[in-house]
Amino acid sequence: MKAFLPRIEISLSKIQENTQILCDLYGKQGISLMGVSKATLGEPAIAQAMIEGGVQFIADSRLENIQKMKHAGVSSRFVLLRTAQSHAETIIQYADISLNTELETLKALSAYAHKYRKIHQIIVMVELGDLREGVLIHDLPQFITEVLRLPNIEVIGIGCNLACYGGIEPSHQKMMQLSQLADHMGQAFGLKLEIVSGGNSANYQWSQTAPHLGRINNLRLGESILLGRETLQRRAIAGLHTNAFKLIAEVIESKQKPSIPFGTTSQDAFGECPQIRDRGIHQRVIIALGRQDTLISGIQPIQDLEVLGSSSDHTILENKFYPLPIGSEIAFNLDYGGLLAAMTSPFIQKQLLRSAPSYSIPIRGLWSPPVETGRDNPSKTLTGSAAASST
Ligand SMILES: Cc1ncc(COP(=O)(O)O)c(C=O)c1O
Repeated sequence: MKAFLPRIEISLSKIQENTQILCDLYGKQGISLMGVSKATLGEPAIAQAMIEGGVQFIADSRLENIQKMKHAGVSSRFVLLRTAQSHAETIIQYADISLNTELETLKALSAYAHKYRKIHQIIVMVELGDLREGVLIHDLPQFITEVLRLPNIEVIGIGCNLACYGGIEPSHQKMMQLSQLADHMGQAFGLKLEIVSGGNSANYQWSQTAPHLGRINNLRLGESILLGRETLQRRAIAGLHTNAFKLIAEVIESKQKPSIPFGTTSQDAFGECPQIRDRGIHQRVIIALGRQDTLISGIQPIQDLEVLGSSSDHTILENKFYPLPIGSEIAFNLDYGGLLAAMTSPFIQKQLLRSAPSYSIPIRGLWSPPVETGRDNPSKTLTGSAAASST
């Protein structure tokens, strides 16, 4: 049967292996992991691969994704990363734990938890400088005082999120600040605080170089598991696969053309005035993939091709080296933005692979090296004390 195009090939075994390596690495330090599934649109098979790799929680920002995973039979402690007051009833129905920063939302969660006779567990997120979600530190004692008055709500943890909006690093100083807050809040309110969640994939470097981890005993990881990278510099973590996802699109035009558009120049399809370099007459291909499918700046051709530009449904590439007639397939690696958008596109088929696909035999122009992962490309990985051990 002819393969569907465009498609994203997903190696579940690579995702599971990445998870296992990270669970071993962090587990040795007493850190449990939440596998963050949101970039995969809550794909149940991917969540299952994370669970088989050893994560103790599945975390997602979208209730719809949690519903989808639960309905598919995925069994885990489900954590909702983003709450909204208007979703309170569904949150209580589907999430076991949620991250929270607003008292009014918690009042609504409390009311529905009471209605459904559930205890809803929460992690209070603290603002440590990145300026996305978080209760300001000086408001925290009052906030917790009020939360503890709410029936059917149990505060099981404290957490922070950095390197998302403001690009603020999870430094040792910030992690110790969170750690001390856990101590203070624990003592002041007699709370056990089972979870002290220090952050996300950006915490890798800190975790590998810190003299001690204080009270931090949990991280919420998306990108490190899925794409094998830390997120402060986007360097591959040694031992991890960076190519668990591969996007494949079809060549629909292949011609020699001038590189400079001819005629009177005005705006392009997106209201920009394109600046285009003169490359003379050159070989161009167009693929059936555009901005409606993914973030084009977030995809990198595996072959030596250059993306020249894109509109909603077309992406144009310069092709200097390959015979790529129409019908050929071109494969791309993805960064986080490319992955997020491609997994969300209804036009891209998601093809789940149990074991790594082999590309050693070219299929009508499709080519990619048999091995090109972070684990096999040490020059692009973190090394030394900051490197994960490879299995
Ligand atoms: C609150 C929260 N924690 C953790 C993550 C995971 O981040 P990363 O993919 O960088 O590991 C995200 C984003 O997906 C998030 O919003």
